[in-house]
Amino acid sequence: MESSHTLLAAVLLWLHLFLILIVTARAKVPAIIMFGDSSVDAGNNNQVPTIARSNFRPYGRDFYGGKPTGRFCNGRLATDFISEAFGLRPFVPAYLDPAYNISDFAVGVTFASAGTGYDNATSDVLGVIPLWRELEYYKDYQKRLRAYLGDGKAIDTLTNALYIISIGTNDFLENYYVVPQRRTQYTIDAYQEFLIGIARNFIVDLHSLGARKISLAGLPPMGCMPLERAENLANACMETYNTVAMRFNAKLSDLVLKLNKEIPGLQLVFSNPFSVLLQMITNPSLYGKSYI
Ligand SMILES: *[C@@H]1O[C@H](CO)[C@@H](O)[C@H](O)[C@H]1NC(C)=O
Ligand SMILES: *[C@@H]1O[C@H](CO)[C@@H](O)[C@H](O)[C@H]1NC(C)=O
Repeated sequence: MESSHTLLAAVLLWLHLFLILIVTARAKVPAIIMFGDSSVDAGNNNQVPTIARSNFRPYGRDFYGGKPTGRFCNGRLATDFISEAFGLRPFVPAYLDPAYNISDFAVGVTFASAGTGYDNATSDVLGVIPLWRELEYYKDYQKRLRAYLGDGKAIDTLTNALYIISIGTNDFLENYYVVPQRRTQYTIDAYQEFLIGIARNFIVDLHSLGARKISLAGLPPMGCMPLERAENLANACMETYNTVAMRFNAKLSDLVLKLNKEIPGLQLVFSNPFSVLLQMITNPSLYGKSYI
């Protein structure tokens, strides 16, 4: 299931780049810190007993050394390019990857886990890292960073870092529409509200831990993901799922407006990849490709 989301991941996160640069172009960004799912996992799942892995070919064939790192992508993730654009490393390592240590993580780290979601029940499906635990890893990271950089420099890094949250697709495609439990408890609208509540708490918690510049990603046109298209003979996008994504994005966008009003000093942006991605999917030749 997760690998079906791969093809879009790289394209999707590119969009963050442009949106974020507008907000933070002049500000100093000493580190990029990420939470989420396969769109921003750089190999954390390799350290977790789950089938949601991508540490084998053809993943990574265009990455440095052709290495399948655990990125759900042929090459670098969009967030790797974002890091490079800020003059940081050209890729952001996974927190659980034993090849890296705190001196690497001081300029960027991802706590993301492919297959996870806002909902705890989503991470249970494939036994991956729940979002709340990603935040626990972040707290651990803060301690290690203080020990490594000293309190002053660590606080400066944590305050000025760019935080990226990219998650939510799996709550619908891996959980709500596949596993009956949530469908018996919630209408689709009520389930979205439930997820929005979790997103709100997560951002409030992250802010209370010191984060200030946060980019919250919207959902892609998830009905056009390869697995969803493969489920019908015409290979068509599943309009129901795209509509759900649009509605959820509208709710996320509202949440961002509200939180910016409620929390002084928070710079939260909503980065919505939906329209641009849909255009790429429906009209790939505009972007130099015709094989989709
Ligand atoms: C991190 O690893 C590098 C080698 O990969 C090593 O030179 C460095 O001392 C390590 N730093 C810490 C803080 O452990
Ligand atoms: C998810 O699980 C964690 C850990 O058990 C818990 O603290 C949190 O309240 C749960 N979230 C929701 C929305 O139930």
